[in-house]
Amino acid sequence: MSIHSRKNSHIQICLKESVQSETMNGFEKYRLIHEALPEKDFHKFDISTSFLGKKISAPLMISSMTGGTESGETINRHLVEAAVKEQIPFAIGSMRIYLEQNRLSELRKLRDHAVAIPILANIGAVQLNYGLKIDQIKQIVDSVEADALILHLNAIQEVFQHAGDLNFSDLLRKIEEVRSQSDVPVIIKEVGFGFSVETAGKLREIGIEWLDIAGAGGTSWIKVEVARDRSEFTHKMVAPFYSWGIPTAISLARIHQAYPDMNLIASGGIRNGVEVCKAEYLGAKLSGIAIPLLKPALESAEAACKVIDQFKFQYRTAKFCSSGIESI
Ligand SMILES: Cc1cc2nc3c(=O)[nH]c(=O)nc-3n(C[C@H](O)[C@H](O)[C@H](O)COP(=O)(O)O)c2cc1C
Repeated sequence: MSIHSRKNSHIQICLKESVQSETMNGFEKYRLIHEALPEKDFHKFDISTSFLGKKISAPLMISSMTGGTESGETINRHLVEAAVKEQIPFAIGSMRIYLEQNRLSELRKLRDHAVAIPILANIGAVQLNYGLKIDQIKQIVDSVEADALILHLNAIQEVFQHAGDLNFSDLLRKIEEVRSQSDVPVIIKEVGFGFSVETAGKLREIGIEWLDIAGAGGTSWIKVEVARDRSEFTHKMVAPFYSWGIPTAISLARIHQAYPDMNLIASGGIRNGVEVCKAEYLGAKLSGIAIPLLKPALESAEAACKVIDQFKFQYRTAKFCSSGIESI
């Protein structure tokens, strides 16, 4: 199956089937400390922040999802429009199709529509073992004048993917090479299984300053891959993996405690603005949302904005009425 039809079927499965991880995202283990005396005016309460040197309206971003397929194009167009209206960062899904099909120039229009917001380029780190060269990474970054490059790590997804790319050897050294030659910050991201403190430490040692946790508790890429190719695995074989991964809040809190100087993005199962507020108290600079925006973005930019507005209202309220966080 070509990468093009695989990406299309990923979108269809995420739209139609239950792909929710069977572990919780970990935020349920924390409670915001209610503030009875906020001492500020709700209407004048500023929730804007900055990310990669640009002002954004709230600590929220649209996580990498799609690109290069027909439905992906519509979704991306609506998502970028929503990101501009809402003034929040937009991360493009894997740009491999554009690179392999010589279509990177098509992405220029995304940047033309979104001059002021951070745009993040994205490609799988494992591709560095399958012919991806540093000058090609520079091309994907340049194609959208990306503010940062996301290299995603998806080892367990590849195991469950039919004919997945499974050679993950020597990647730390190759990631270091990319980082040392990159003109923009390199963000290392999971796709729904999180990072341990040890792995975060290894990445920090090679100069990585940004991690996107993408922990467990949201979209399960094992469920997505198995739904795509039911013949290959029996339910009995895969079922123990449906709760695989480090829950987002746990991964985030542990890494922030070990390395307070690392810049962390909380994502993976973030489903409301209260969780965005909890993530901030646990050390995240911002939170990323993926699947809650997929269906709305297929419909229209306005539908995606509505979801983002709901997150913003919930975050604003939670921040206004809280003074900290405690574990339950
Ligand atoms: C349809 C779809 C496509 C995705 N494609 C990518 C991708 O190309 N690159 C990537 O780093 N993550 C990709 N992801 C993973 C998300 O960025 C995110 O890490 C993950 O879905 C967990 O967040 P969620 O629980 O809010 O969905 C994709 C997610 C979805 C739903």
